[in-house]
Amino acid sequence: MIIDGKKVASEIKEQLAIATKKLNSENNIIPGLACILVGNNPASEYYVRSKVKSCQEIGFYSMLDKFKTTISENELLAHIEKYNNNPSVHGILVQLPLPSHINEEKILQAVNPEKDVDGFNPINVGKLVSGQKTFIPCTALGVLELLKYYKISTSGKHVVVVGRSNIVGKPVANLLSQKKYGNAIVTIVHSGTEDISKFTKEADILVVAIGKPKFINAAMVKNGVVVIDVGINKIINGSESLLVGDVDFENVKEIASAITPVPGGVGPMTIAMLLSNTFQAAQISISK
Ligand code: GUN
Repeated sequence: MIIDGKKVASEIKEQLAIATKKLNSENNIIPGLACILVGNNPASEYYVRSKVKSCQEIGFYSMLDKFKTTISENELLAHIEKYNNNPSVHGILVQLPLPSHINEEKILQAVNPEKDVDGFNPINVGKLVSGQKTFIPCTALGVLELLKYYKISTSGKHVVVVGRSNIVGKPVANLLSQKKYGNAIVTIVHSGTEDISKFTKEADILVVAIGKPKFINAAMVKNGVVVIDVGINKIINGSESLLVGDVDFENVKEIASAITPVPGGVGPMTIAMLLSNTFQAAQISISK
């Protein structure tokens, strides 16, 4: 089975568009997202444009601040503060990675936790890890939602997460190990793992987020595995460039019971979850 993230994301967006109309007519509020992009990394530009476009499609208010790579940390902090104090902005997203002269931790810490729709502020990371309600990082939430939509149970299953990034690997592994989200047995493998395939072969569910094109091949997984491929890598094939995941889709799909394609798998879900988190931030702001 191919897991169709594009379809699931589009259903979620339709529901959000309806809920947004209702929220506006009943409470006179339009969910607002501010996106901040620093530099001209083509992938980041593409992601941020997709995020802003999706906001427009479902009736959100959105804005995009694009800054030169040379922006100073203090200037960037001042822009974040401006959005922290703007009541029309319910969500703030700082696209990562940031240039090396800017301290990423300091920037993420500056985002008001109530507007931190990416769930990257350490206050929200702490809440997530300790099982409290908070914004869940969009890609991790997208992975959980896809599994739920396709009724793929994780309870008691062995989930192997390949990659330990703050954005994907850590939150996915943490959530899936928690009783209320996944109740799974979770193994994390990473660049320090000597024999990765020893672990991936044991996985009932494999979540791959390491940013290496076609890293997981058919010999590294067992029959019937569920594969969630978070990678989006651009590769050059002759004269054309194409997007591939971290999994060798064509070969692994023959032995997997379910697998996400790239593109059209996790990617669209990340955006749908960002919209969902922004909608929630707007809703929460009503009662404040
Ligand atoms: N860079 C790669 N993924 C993400 C994401 O989900 N959010 C942000 N802000 N930056 C990213």
